[in-house]
Amino acid sequence: MSRKPRTSAPGAAKGADASSFTLTDNATGQSWQLPARTGAFGNRLIDIKKLYGDTGVLTYDPGFTSTASCQSDITFIDGEKGVLLHRGYSIEELASRSDFMETCYLLLYGELPTPEQKASFDADIKNHTLMHDQFISFYKGFMRNAHPMAIMVGVVGALSAFYHDSIDINDLSQRQLAAHRLIAKMPTIGAYAYKYSLGMSFPMPRNDLSYPENLLRMMFSNPAEEYKINPVLARAIDRILILHADHEQNASTSTVRLAGSSGANPYACIAAGIASLWGPAHGGANEAVLKMLEEIGGVERVGEYIARAKDKSDSFRLMGFGHRVYKNYDPRATVMRKTCHEVLGVLGIDDPKLKLAMALEKIALEDDYFVEKKLYPNVDFYSGIILKAMGFPTSMFTVMFAIGRTVGWVSHWKEMLKDEDQKIGRPRQLYLGHKKRKYIPIDNRGHTDKKTSWSWLWGGR
Ligand code: SDX
Repeated sequence: MSRKPRTSAPGAAKGADASSFTLTDNATGQSWQLPARTGAFGNRLIDIKKLYGDTGVLTYDPGFTSTASCQSDITFIDGEKGVLLHRGYSIEELASRSDFMETCYLLLYGELPTPEQKASFDADIKNHTLMHDQFISFYKGFMRNAHPMAIMVGVVGALSAFYHDSIDINDLSQRQLAAHRLIAKMPTIGAYAYKYSLGMSFPMPRNDLSYPENLLRMMFSNPAEEYKINPVLARAIDRILILHADHEQNASTSTVRLAGSSGANPYACIAAGIASLWGPAHGGANEAVLKMLEEIGGVERVGEYIARAKDKSDSFRLMGFGHRVYKNYDPRATVMRKTCHEVLGVLGIDDPKLKLAMALEKIALEDDYFVEKKLYPNVDFYSGIILKAMGFPTSMFTVMFAIGRTVGWVSHWKEMLKDEDQKIGRPRQLYLGHKKRKYIPIDNRGHTDKKTSWSWLWGGR
């Protein structure tokens, strides 16, 4: 992977700050000056890029609770105020006034498109929605009851086995081609995973339909009859995709950036992001919320589960609640709840799970534990209720999240490759293991009871 040519004059980096921080080692009395960086909203950071080189001291931050892994212009979150901006535009405005294709253009290219730019971007995405015919055989390798996220990880990674014309990351036109291909193909790949589980044929995407309309038709059409698009559902899907498009350095985006930092091809990087998103603490939470609501069953048991969520000895957590960054309402959850009411109203569905979710939210938000820990509903709390009402099976909820988030992943991948500060991600560690010890031949080792299982070696929280 060739070093990036320096495009800007070697002067002050963006966000440079003449001030600094002092680090003092109280054990030795030594002090060091650490340069400061200032974000667009005046937040100051300690630049520790050279800390270890200058001091021999590492920082320790598992989960990166206090660490900025990169610089970025794409998305800004103010967790205290519940603010989410994409290239400076609020998620509330984008969700109500933009559409997903326009939001994709904004995230990828930094500005809202002109009418001509939007038309040509739409057309280019439509040019890449089809899958290579041989690609379909990949699905046949899976059991019909395979989780669709398992299929997504495998099939998206396999794109690099087909599209050799867009895996050279040093060729800018190949980077763009891969980015557009991934955005275009994710609905097709996801819908086919669902159709495969049903034993149904794979409907082709159609260029006379919009992005959300194609997704709905590929998911729910029946080859024996004409599929009628419900414009309210298409608009709701479009908004759900906008709400999931990007969210700065979340676990899956950080996974994509780390994979990309080694020079891996874009399809492999996005497959890695899909794998990370699948976890119930991240994108898998929408599926976990529905399972939790089904387990709670009725409002009369909400108190029992709230108590379990507060009980340190109980591993149960209120799925769809809490967030590493938001210590206020997740603005996406507010839009999602409004959309939930709209969709269920249009569909004439009186889903007891929605009532249960609202009761759960109300009780939790009045409970000291949740108030003190600033645990609010996040983007995943309501999304599953809407998707279920539209006919999506629970197992497809995280696939929908991945379809929306692909543009965020590829936008960060593109930004990472252009960043002159960027190099292969290689964190260090705090080593607490054995000091050096001599090898003992097996005949000189003690014996254990043959029945000793390995389970005790795994341990567990
Ligand atoms: C997404 O990063 C992103 O931006 C992600 C995302 C995106 O768009 O990419 O926004 C999408 O992943 C949303 C989050 C979906 N996950 C869930 O809804 C799962 C339930 N939530 C939790 O697991 C948790 O809140 C996390 C994982 C979301 C955040 O965990 P943190 O930041 O590591 O916080 P923590 O686990 O340290 O919790 C802090 C305290 C703990 O109590 P104490 O040890 O301090 O006493 O809050 C408690 C936790 O026990 N807590 C919860 C809770 N979430 C946190 N207690 C009960 N129920 C919960 N849901």
